[in-house]
Amino acid sequence: MSTYDVAVIGSGPGGYVAAIRCAQLGMKTAIIEKYSTLGGTCLNVGCIPSKALLDSSHHYDDAIRHFEDHGIEIPGEVKLNLEKMMERKASVVSQTCDGVKFLMDKNKIDVYEGVGSFKDKTHINIEKDGETQTIEAKKTIIATGSKPANLPFIELDKERVITSTEALKLKEVPKHMIVIGGGVIGLELGQVYKRLGAEVTVVEFLDRIIPTMDSALSKELQKVLKKQGIKFYTSTKVKSVERNGDEITIKADDKKDKEIELKGDYCLVSVGRKPFTDGLNAEAAGVELDDKGRVKVNDHLQTNVDNIYAIGDVVRGAMLAHKAEEEGTMVAELMAGQKPHIDYNLIPGVVYTWPEVAAVGKTEEQLKEEGVKYKEGKFPMRALGRSRASGDIDGLVKILADEKTDEVLGVHMIGARTADLIAEAVTAMEFRASAEDISRMSHAHPTFAEAVKEAALAATDNRALHI
Ligand code: FAD
Ligand code: NAI
Repeated sequence: MSTYDVAVIGSGPGGYVAAIRCAQLGMKTAIIEKYSTLGGTCLNVGCIPSKALLDSSHHYDDAIRHFEDHGIEIPGEVKLNLEKMMERKASVVSQTCDGVKFLMDKNKIDVYEGVGSFKDKTHINIEKDGETQTIEAKKTIIATGSKPANLPFIELDKERVITSTEALKLKEVPKHMIVIGGGVIGLELGQVYKRLGAEVTVVEFLDRIIPTMDSALSKELQKVLKKQGIKFYTSTKVKSVERNGDEITIKADDKKDKEIELKGDYCLVSVGRKPFTDGLNAEAAGVELDDKGRVKVNDHLQTNVDNIYAIGDVVRGAMLAHKAEEEGTMVAELMAGQKPHIDYNLIPGVVYTWPEVAAVGKTEEQLKEEGVKYKEGKFPMRALGRSRASGDIDGLVKILADEKTDEVLGVHMIGARTADLIAEAVTAMEFRASAEDISRMSHAHPTFAEAVKEAALAATDNRALHI
């Protein structure tokens, strides 16, 4: 039987990063993945394929709707080749997954393909095609991720009533895609199919889309997506989803409690994700789950069993790839006796629609609830020279700073390239910058980043220069 210092169960961004860091720190490491490709949800059916389709559909949309504004004429009709778009996406995914395999080999990490399940707290069975092998591991990291959640009355047939996994590989553009849930997946994939020609209707239970983000971002994003042709029903409770042949009928109660009926040919259910521990046999090791099915961990990501840790989507906190990666690194360093730390308040959140939405720190709603006295500086993207040059005029940057100390408490942005701009806010907050600190840093002109400086100027005595 092979023996390891550490076994990692699950090869998503949490698991594979943990394995690399363990190996770097001199631990003999194994990683177990039930699928034949490494990379987990993020690389196979999450971050990477969704971004590939967002980028491809953005090019298509530009070619159809925006090239002309720039004086670019395409003789003849711009045509969509969905099959080729999907092939490109698949090739981006496979290159990225192969990259993880390369990193495993480079770091001399043993890769096992099969379902990992605890035999006891130091032994893991790995089952594939009815055959089982057992390895011994002094320590184990559970990184088994998450799966799409569903509503109890919806039957996901995975053909027309689908989750993100199927939406990433449709063979045709829907005529009318009804999206249940106006969160990250619903809006990103809704925008993909809207750009490719589908009618898209989003039904959201709460009173605003992306409800966990600052409400200024929800408002602006809904306004822009509406302009792009996506329809929204907020404060609307879906009651039933029925399929009849190729037709899907959705009944819901709208904000006035009036029943509405929507008909479409595809229904994307994107109402969140749930932790995944099926087949892990956590009980055999004595590992406890909480009431939401997440593996219970302490501040050091240690379960109630001292040699077993858990990270990523399967534990509490944001279900984000970069959060899982930070936890993977932290757990490896803790095992090596180091003292790493994660500031969960500084994990940024990004929605990769166009305009992109990005945020870090506290929302205005949270500051109000916590009774923190704050001031705000806002700057609209449309006032930037760079925005006018590119034609990306939607959006804004909003900085929230402590009323007395001027320390930046939250940065919320929507606009072109804010997914990248948010890194500046994270850096500033990591070093506990004040709004004035940001406002006095030179930002290259003309860039979208100037909106961050201007919002910081606005937050400190209303000094914005270009509005
Ligand atoms: P996962 O990536 O889910 O990996 C878990 C792995 O464990 C899987 O490969 C699974 O097969 C394996 N596994 C489970 N049980 C066992 C077992 N018993 N034995 C062996 N293997 C097992 N996040 C972002 O930060 N940015 C984005 O842009 C983004 N886009 C997304 C788009 C979509 C459509 C979706 C669905 C998610 C997206 N996410 C994004 C979320 C991101 O994918 C997750 O937060 C991230 O993958 C979590 O990483 P993880 O390592 O915890 O788990
Ligand atoms: P989500 O939590 O982002 O959004 C779910 C939405 O569905 C919420 O707005 C919620 O109010 C709504 N909802 C819940 N029940 C409902 C009901 N009965 N009827 C109508 N609406 C309902 O979850 P989503 O979009 O499924 O994504 C899952 C997770 O995957 C995200 O939370 C995120 O962690 C991750 N992800 C991250 C991405 C990124 O970082 N860009 C992209 C895609 C996914």
